[in-house]
Amino acid sequence: MKHGKNFTLGEYVIIKKPDLMEIGDNVRIADFCRISTACKIGNDCEIAPGTYIAGGDGKYVFEMGGFSSLAAGVKVWLSSNDYVNELVTHSVPEVKEIEGNVKLGRFTGVGTNSVIMPNNNIPEGVTIGALSFVPSNYKFEPWTVYAGRPIKPIKKRNKANILRTLMKIGYIDETCMIDGELMCAE
Ligand SMILES: CC(C)(COP(=O)(O)OP(=O)(O)OC[C@H]1O[C@@H](n2cnc3c(N)ncnc32)[C@H](O)[C@@H]1OP(=O)(O)O)[C@@H](O)C(=O)NCCC(=O)NCCS
Repeated sequence: MKHGKNFTLGEYVIIKKPDLMEIGDNVRIADFCRISTACKIGNDCEIAPGTYIAGGDGKYVFEMGGFSSLAAGVKVWLSSNDYVNELVTHSVPEVKEIEGNVKLGRFTGVGTNSVIMPNNNIPEGVTIGALSFVPSNYKFEPWTVYAGRPIKPIKKRNKANILRTLMKIGYIDETCMIDGELMCAE
């Protein structure tokens, strides 16, 4: 498993495919997590206790941009049985699955016990409330707060305050900003 400096790995964490894990600096993966997929985890990310990232058998990738988090008990699926059209069990070959990459942009957060289905691109600055359900292929807007089962937009994220915090900690400076937009790449 490749990881940067200041990496904290909790107790009783199961990582099924360490060769497919790339982890940045200042990352924490807390107790009781189970990760069985390929992952690219950016700097300053947190994966809180009891989180599962599963499915896809290494064929798909879970990505997390910098300064993002999955709260305790989140489940992220990169493949799922098709509960409408197919048998739903492990032993039947050649059933069609719902599958695809899941990518969280930078400054994102997923609230506790939420479920994210395969094939989702969650852009910069999005947060998702506790106990939410994110269907496959949901169309997100950046810097928006979503919640519910299934999710819907509930308000805008306080981007100005988050940018102020990022400046205060020295992650960005004025040269990154044009008309209030963050221009610096990850
Ligand atoms: C989503 C969230 C950020 C919104 O917080 P907020 O701004 O205080 O929310 P509000 O009270 O203004 O709610 C706005 C609306 O969204 C609904 N809502 C808020 N959180 C919700 C949730 N988790 N699921 C479903 N609906 C939710 C409210 O019922 C309200 O609906 P209404 O307008 O029909 O009355 C917050 O409720 C949340 O879920 N935070 C996650 C925290 C977490 O998981 N922490 C883990 C440890 S870090």
